[in-house]
Amino acid sequence: MIRVEGLTKFYGSVPAIEDISFRVERGEILGFLGPNGAGKSTTMRILTGFMPPTSGSAWVADMNVAERPLEVKRSIGYMPESNPLYLDMTVTAYLGYMVSLKGVAGAARRDAVARVVGSCGLESVASRLIGHLSKGYRQRVGLAQSLVSDPPVLILDEPTSGLDPAQIIEIRNLIRSLKGSRTIILSTHILPEVSLVCDRVVVIHQGRVAFEGALDSLATSVKEDDVLRVSAIGSAEALQGRLSAVPGVRQVRRTGASNGEVHFEVRAERGREVRPALAAAVPAASGQLTELRRERLTLEDLFVRIVSGERKHEGEAAHV
Ligand SMILES: Nc1ncnc2c1ncn2[C@@H]1O[C@H](COP(=O)(O)OP(=O)(O)OP(=O)(O)O)[C@@H](O)[C@H]1O
Ligand SMILES: [Mg+2]
Repeated sequence: MIRVEGLTKFYGSVPAIEDISFRVERGEILGFLGPNGAGKSTTMRILTGFMPPTSGSAWVADMNVAERPLEVKRSIGYMPESNPLYLDMTVTAYLGYMVSLKGVAGAARRDAVARVVGSCGLESVASRLIGHLSKGYRQRVGLAQSLVSDPPVLILDEPTSGLDPAQIIEIRNLIRSLKGSRTIILSTHILPEVSLVCDRVVVIHQGRVAFEGALDSLATSVKEDDVLRVSAIGSAEALQGRLSAVPGVRQVRRTGASNGEVHFEVRAERGREVRPALAAAVPAASGQLTELRRERLTLEDLFVRIVSGERKHEGEAAHV
């Protein structure tokens, strides 16, 4: 449904994005992640036809963005990062104006406005001037504006930024309810949001794709040892010896001891199941197991690992 190939954009002589490629299938919600300045908004502006790339191409619904900009704009709902609104219009007048720009008129126009006023929780402010609304409500108007023409593709640049926690959940549920019927690219810095809403993610870092794939595969793309915590009652030396001898274990470190219990940090080959053998190693050292668990990297941990590495060379991006 969306295809991006080799997009590069220079602002003057400085590259904002370089050779960005990815795809989004019909009905999918893609999380678009990356640190500040990574190039997310730049990519989204190009995809929506608001700015030409320096090189590379993008297709939305099989239409080349550069060749058919008007048709592409008509099939996209776009919520830009800056959320530009007409502050001296009322909410309903503004939404009506936005939908009329996409060629919807008459009763269909009124129905379309009523629908998004309801789904974005704007009933109580529908007749107020946008300039008099709080930031969160303006954000909702921006989202409503992107949805009002019922487009098949949504490009949302940080749609939940500036919302209070209850509003974030509402907007997130709204986006989730669109899953399957729309194709959505969503940029955000709220990582739990990504795991709740998105099917796949693209992480960009310093203008290049650093990761593309399902969220589950984000964990396996990080090439680090697994870390396990083992606690047992018994002789520290005997336990350490037996634990170290388990196949797949690379390192066993004593992290503390209390009341006869010894605590170990075990580093093992990534993805290898060593827990049964670790559990068996304890009685073999005449010890008693009190705790055994694998430490999981959180989404934040994974993200920081991906974007804190050295800038990747071309072709080295972790495609999964
Ligand atoms: N109009 C512009 N003129 C010059 N440089 C720009 C312009 N817009 C963006 N840049 C630069 O391009 C790079 C990418 O910016 P972009 O806004 O795409 O990042 P982003 O990933 O959306 O970041 P954020 O998370 O802060 O929104 C940055 O280095 C930024 O300074
Ligand atoms: Mg941005």
